[in-house]
Amino acid sequence: MIDQRMLPGREVYRVYKDYRGVAGAIRSMVIRGAPAIGVAAAMGVALGLKGTSGRRAQARFAVVARTLKAARPTAVNLAWAVDRMGRVLERNLALDARALFAALRDEALAIYEEDLAANRALGQFGAALIDDDPAQILTHCNAGALATAGYGTALGIVRAARDSGKRVSVIADETRPFLQGARLTAWELKKDRIPVTLIADNMAGMVLARGGVSCVIVGTDRVAANGDVANKIGTYPLAVMARRHGVPLYVAAPLSSIDFNCPSGADIPIEERDASELAEIAGRRIAPPGVRIFNPAFDVTPAELVTAIVTERGVARPPYDKSLAELRRRSV
Ligand code: MRU
Repeated sequence: MIDQRMLPGREVYRVYKDYRGVAGAIRSMVIRGAPAIGVAAAMGVALGLKGTSGRRAQARFAVVARTLKAARPTAVNLAWAVDRMGRVLERNLALDARALFAALRDEALAIYEEDLAANRALGQFGAALIDDDPAQILTHCNAGALATAGYGTALGIVRAARDSGKRVSVIADETRPFLQGARLTAWELKKDRIPVTLIADNMAGMVLARGGVSCVIVGTDRVAANGDVANKIGTYPLAVMARRHGVPLYVAAPLSSIDFNCPSGADIPIEERDASELAEIAGRRIAPPGVRIFNPAFDVTPAELVTAIVTERGVARPPYDKSLAELRRRSV
């Protein structure tokens, strides 16, 4: 894994050989972004079950699955990937340890490949929604190659639009407090030679009011069955401002991010992270000692503020309970 905590300063790669290491990497944000942590967790399950088979593998899976799922609770891709690995185990209880590991490894690699393909497909659907040329796209957090198996969801749409010949530029929110926008989105877009302008989160209202933003595109950690969208903290106020200024808000979401068992946003668990992320910048304390801190990592944007949800099977429009269910049924 590329250690995302070190970017953009240093490109450091880390290798994990056991599931605890993978869980720790997910928890500490060495790797982050819903689809990327799903892929990592799948690989973690394969590592965690290595050398086991049959009943022993089942017992081990219970522990490994609990540990990995607890690493980060909001992104449904993580639980989705772990459960999918669990089903492979159940289908292969008769295999010896070697063959079981091969089956689990292959499934984890399939999840990786499928995510890459999903991003490319949703990128095409999303690019077709961008009418302006040149187009200016506002995004929040990092829903790019770093957050996925590659290519990106929100940034996948940007890449697909660029590759289709459109002149696209991006305005990136810095994304307090972890600075995924300033550190990661700006880094990967610069590397890809896509023009990017960085703003602080609290500048988005002014930028939208000024005009010239074609659309807002964000990723998601979990979409509820009714279309409510959990994403990086700060997405909800951005959605309110986008609506206020008549700018469409598109959510890029592979089907692995849609939780049909979750009726609405109120049912999505919201992760709270350590106070130090808010109290410190780059390890230096900025808030007075002892001050009470609230650090939710995600917020929920109600479906009514979402113009469309772009998946690898097509574009869902309101009412989302119907359109998302229809996309789920549609064969690939
Ligand atoms: O806390 P993070 O950095 O993992 O949050 C990531 C986001 O909120 C992304 O927008 C989301 O996971 C989609 S990534 C394609």
